[in-house]
Amino acid sequence: MSGGVIRTPDPVDFDALVARFRSLYDAEPDGVWAAPGRVNIIGEHTDYNGGFVLPIALAQHTVAAVRRRDDNVVRVASTSIDDGAVVTLDLTGVREDGDYDWAAYVVGVGWAAAQRDLPVTGLDIALDSNVPVGAGLSSSAALSCVTARAWSDLLDWQLDDETVADLGRDAENKIAGAPTGLMDQLASVCGQESHAMQIDTRAVTITQLPFDLPAAGLSLLVIDSHTEHSHADGEYAERRHSSQEAALRLGVHELRDVPLESLATTLDKLPALLRRRARHVVTDSARVERTAELLLAGDDLRRIGPLLNDSHASMRDDYEITVPSVDTLQEAAVAAGAHGARMTGGGFGGCVIALVDQQDAAAVADACVAAAADGGFPTPSVFEAVASGGAARIE
Ligand code: GLA
Repeated sequence: MSGGVIRTPDPVDFDALVARFRSLYDAEPDGVWAAPGRVNIIGEHTDYNGGFVLPIALAQHTVAAVRRRDDNVVRVASTSIDDGAVVTLDLTGVREDGDYDWAAYVVGVGWAAAQRDLPVTGLDIALDSNVPVGAGLSSSAALSCVTARAWSDLLDWQLDDETVADLGRDAENKIAGAPTGLMDQLASVCGQESHAMQIDTRAVTITQLPFDLPAAGLSLLVIDSHTEHSHADGEYAERRHSSQEAALRLGVHELRDVPLESLATTLDKLPALLRRRARHVVTDSARVERTAELLLAGDDLRRIGPLLNDSHASMRDDYEITVPSVDTLQEAAVAAGAHGARMTGGGFGGCVIALVDQQDAAAVADACVAAAADGGFPTPSVFEAVASGGAARIE
């Protein structure tokens, strides 16, 4: 859906990408692969606590034209980064304390494959993407997962989807130095059209649940605040540390192991800050389970709205990962008629999602733009999320 302030990101031009590959490398690509970004519907910062998450894969992708090489060299260029300059790296020199900038998400996959004793050769890669960057929509997972899918297909590694996602996660955690959980990569690899994925991050199992918003007369708006906290990485690591500290003090392996039923008495054992952090993790994971029950039962999807609002309040008051611009957009969306809204992703900026009746989409989007202007925040951009398929070869 486009019109008014709702504007779908322009699609990637596959022909132009292949032409670019030819001009960069003076050869034909062996194929073209695509991997999507994601929005998480509910369950934030639960994935590194062994809890539940419920993301969808987006219709916005990172696309890679790729050719296998016979040596250990990776050459990679992206239309949208550094004016398309080619980065050249030797895989044999890649190490955990290296600094590879954005190319870490590419060479890190080769490093991770080599750690698993998979046969690895170099690649020539030309990239393009319409996943918004720095918005909490997992553009980095789209990049690592398109690389993992292409490498695996070209070298016939015969990996299951979870392992493809895990290669992407290793690249992010170990070579790019971002201490993420596995949600984003699993969503990018395993997405299915018109479905949301309930992921048990401890068991690493995925239940595909029906999530056909258009059939229910609904839209999921993604409202990008265009604000990013400059210390987001440090704050993420700090939340991860707090979660581990809370689990340690409670004598459990992970916060996943704290039962919801006895939450209040359990939390009494913690100092105030850790109590709030643990309460968010345990209640948000429970909200995923409740949301999944509604989806599985084929219930009216509008009923997940209050859970989205509760999740936002929990991220704002207990986990303290929202920022004023994002809170403003969430409140404006709900005041303008959204059934529910919440920040999605790691936090400290990024996007709000809002579940709206289709006929209210434009009014909710307009209200968000107006509220941002009133608050002196950047003008948000808005598009409609469509639950789409995961990483795949497309040519
Ligand atoms: C980022 C991380 C994920 C997850 C979310 C918060 O997107 O990459 O692993 O922790 O934040 O839910």
